[in-house]
Amino acid sequence: MEALLWRGLLALLAFVRYIDVEISTRRMKRPQKKTSTSSFGTSGRISHDSSRFYKSRLYEAQGKAAPSSVTENEIASDNLNRIFCKSSEAMEELPDQSIHLMITSPPYNVSKEYDEDFTLEEYRQLLQRVFKETHRVLVNGGRACINVANVGRKPYIPFHAFIAQDMIELGYQMRGEIIWNKGSSAGPSTAWGSWQSASNPTLRDVHEYILVFTKGEYGRNGKSRNSTISREEFLELTKSVWSFSAESARRVGHPAPFPVELPHRLIQLYSFEWDVVLDPFAGSGTTCLAALLTNRLFVGYEKKLAYVKIAEKRIREAQDNLARLTD
Ligand SMILES: C[S@@+](CC[C@H](N)C(=O)[O-])C[C@H]1O[C@@H](n2cnc3c(N)ncnc32)[C@H](O)[C@@H]1O
Repeated sequence: MEALLWRGLLALLAFVRYIDVEISTRRMKRPQKKTSTSSFGTSGRISHDSSRFYKSRLYEAQGKAAPSSVTENEIASDNLNRIFCKSSEAMEELPDQSIHLMITSPPYNVSKEYDEDFTLEEYRQLLQRVFKETHRVLVNGGRACINVANVGRKPYIPFHAFIAQDMIELGYQMRGEIIWNKGSSAGPSTAWGSWQSASNPTLRDVHEYILVFTKGEYGRNGKSRNSTISREEFLELTKSVWSFSAESARRVGHPAPFPVELPHRLIQLYSFEWDVVLDPFAGSGTTCLAALLTNRLFVGYEKKLAYVKIAEKRIREAQDNLARLTD
């Protein structure tokens, strides 16, 4: 009798356990509920359905990401991995749709030794000519990244806002804006206006912008192309605030170089191995250097011969170092 009772109890326990396992398995298999754009925010962002947002009237006037042409043209090998000493307003060395990524920092028109004394309108027109030419040479889905700082205080001139507006008018789609936090390396000025007084305090910028655009479609076909970004880098670089130090002008021999870190990050995030990277305002060749160090091809344009020579020297030294490492 006792044995019978024990057997019954064990059978009951086994049944309860079976039911428990079955319920948990079904719970795990149940598809995650999609979040959608709600009228009062949402905490979950897994499998988010944003179609309602993109159908809203806010997006009525926004151009759709339309493919230009899917053809990619090759650049003559003589014109690759070099810096042309001329204005990038006409880049006739480059066929249409031949560049995958443009990274640049335009002249700021603030009386640096290479700057012209343009009016704001003339300055915007120069950038428009160069970025129109860049649009011609970018492939469908190609990206354009522009590093820019705002200037002045009385009033503040928001170059980043003007450039974003001009790029959209040229037919680019804006994809985002990175705030480059230069931290203590920014050497913020001590022009604080009125010291500890609300009379006229002045902001001291410790940041610059990197504006990100695409031509044509948002995505690029990654088939038979190799991304070189690590998991950790991807998690970090897809955030919109980047912190790293500025470059020393004296060390490089150019009045306003950006650090290699800046184009390096953009190349890792936005291009595949052996893509072609363009810098139409190449200066001391930092973008070209970053391209070389990440197995990308490059083309640069720089008006001033002295800077082209500095860039070529930096590139030659990097090539020698790479050759020594592979020996
Ligand atoms: C802000 S600097 C670029 C610095 C560069 N990112 C570096 O790391 O050295 C801008 C450069 O654009 C050059 N430049 C100005 N107008 C140009 C033009 N129309 N075509 C090509 N280069 C030009 C200037 O001589 C200057 O070297």
